[in-house]
Amino acid sequence: MHESVLLTESINYLNLNNKSVIVDCTLGYAGHSSQILKQIPKGYLYAFDQDKEAIKEANKKLKQINTNYEIINTNFVNLKNEINKRTNEVDGILFDLGVSSPQLDEEERGFSFHKDAKLDMRMDQTQNLTAFEVVNKYDLNKLIHIFKTYGEEKYAINIAKAIVKNRQIKPIETTLELSEIIKNSVPEKYRRNHHPARKVFQAIRIEVNDELNVFEKALKDSLTLIKKGGRVCVITFHSLEDRICKQIFKEVSSVPKELQNLPVIPEEYKPKYKIIANIKPTKEEIEKNHRSRSARLRVIERSK
Ligand SMILES: C[S@@+](CC[C@H](N)C(=O)[O-])C[C@H]1O[C@@H](n2cnc3c(N)ncnc32)[C@H](O)[C@@H]1O
Repeated sequence: MHESVLLTESINYLNLNNKSVIVDCTLGYAGHSSQILKQIPKGYLYAFDQDKEAIKEANKKLKQINTNYEIINTNFVNLKNEINKRTNEVDGILFDLGVSSPQLDEEERGFSFHKDAKLDMRMDQTQNLTAFEVVNKYDLNKLIHIFKTYGEEKYAINIAKAIVKNRQIKPIETTLELSEIIKNSVPEKYRRNHHPARKVFQAIRIEVNDELNVFEKALKDSLTLIKKGGRVCVITFHSLEDRICKQIFKEVSSVPKELQNLPVIPEEYKPKYKIIANIKPTKEEIEKNHRSRSARLRVIERSK
């Protein structure tokens, strides 16, 4: 089961009315989408996901509510193109990033370092690049770069060197093999505080799915798709995604630097967007759902 994060808060911030047209970029198991669909009986929901399993389950849930929805089975990098084909009346867009609990739980997807599986980590099971390619084919410098930038891993160099050394003997095939190599390449003390494979697995997953570039493009596009008064709500789960969101929101909601000292800002330079919220889950939610501990919700509104 996937327990939705910041569910009530994100739905409230979407400011739904019964005719709203909403885009859920990350349908998953329809936790958010079900709530949205219930509250827009005369509106419409477009929901993206690139995971066929998630779509199958989500569809079962949504069709029990009503039929005012369409599931678009593609990467949300195609958001603008796909939505422009269908409507120009979007009131709200939601991103709830990352992987769902069932994706983590399905051993064969290879997302989890707790479960033994082939190195895969593709959200879209039809794409070519897998975690196996990254771990076994990328050169040392590329691995170090990924572990440092996408994992913010302090021992990136040690870990990358250990991977390269081990794969010369035989290819690294499984999540547990990789996890073991990582564990043995960091100091004992570091291992005690947290699982040393967590950050490296996150880094490989981001690389395999090109998550940061895809998100940045889709988020910028989402801002152009909402109409006046419309909102974009973003739930992120790590600092890299959050930083992208924070920077883009800041850019579009501020007066250009060179004009900030003017006594009166000309209308055309006034920002088109205003920041509405930046919140974290409550203590109660974190206690109930450990996965929510690193989540953050940012909301922006188009004002003209
Ligand atoms: C955290 S889950 C969403 C959970 C959902 N909000 C719920 O409450 O049930 C994220 C979902 O987004 C999908 N996803 C992640 N990145 C995507 C992308 N670039 N394009 C399409 N779907 C994506 C994943 O496959 C996953 O099903």
